[in-house]
Amino acid sequence: MLRPAVAADIPFIRSLTTRPDYAPFISDSDDAQLQVWIDSPSDRVLIWETDAARGFAVVRDIDRPGGIVELFRIALDRAGGGQGERFLRALVDHGFRKLGAERLWLDASAENPRAVKVYTRAGFQVEGTLRAHWYRPALGRAVDLILMGLLRSDWQALEPLQVRA
Ligand SMILES: CC(C)(COP(=O)(O)OP(=O)(O)OC[C@H]1O[C@@H](n2cnc3c(N)ncnc32)[C@H](O)[C@@H]1OP(=O)(O)O)[C@@H](O)C(=O)NCCC(=O)NCCS
Repeated sequence: MLRPAVAADIPFIRSLTTRPDYAPFISDSDDAQLQVWIDSPSDRVLIWETDAARGFAVVRDIDRPGGIVELFRIALDRAGGGQGERFLRALVDHGFRKLGAERLWLDASAENPRAVKVYTRAGFQVEGTLRAHWYRPALGRAVDLILMGLLRSDWQALEPLQVRA
């Protein structure tokens, strides 16, 4: 269900990152930057597919010492459609099982309770808040940024059956 992105996926990714209703929550990167991440051995651009491409995520620093991996950009084609939990579980599973991460972390706007709820449900814990830290051009102001993390040991405690499978 999760596969590495290829150049042909860039229009799909940008169709999400350029959406005005997503602009308070995610940034857009140009095609060249996306291609750099697609080609980089340190990063992954992942496409979440069900019947078709439904979401994407950028995963950074997969070769960082200590297995500290960032879920950098996350979006579905249909926000509020109830797929967030499945998507996040797939990403978390991929991070620990396929990438060998010891820690997954991400950040989210404090004004994005939908995302924070999905991340919390996947096991991420709030680890701090950077106040007025993330400037959002669409809002014309900086929002608070919530830092969240999930350790391999948290995941193993949450998913003992899946971890053994
Ligand atoms: C973040 C995202 C992946 C979540 O997936 P999703 O499928 O939309 O999430 P869901 O529909 O499962 O909603 C998650 C929960 O948030 C709740 N929710 C929705 N809007 C909310 C709001 N404004 N305040 C509080 N809770 C809200 C939903 O009711 C649901 O909770 P429930 O299952 O208890 O009813 C998706 O919304 C998305 O791609 N958003 C646009 C880009 C984005 O914000 N990316 C995150 C960057 S950090």
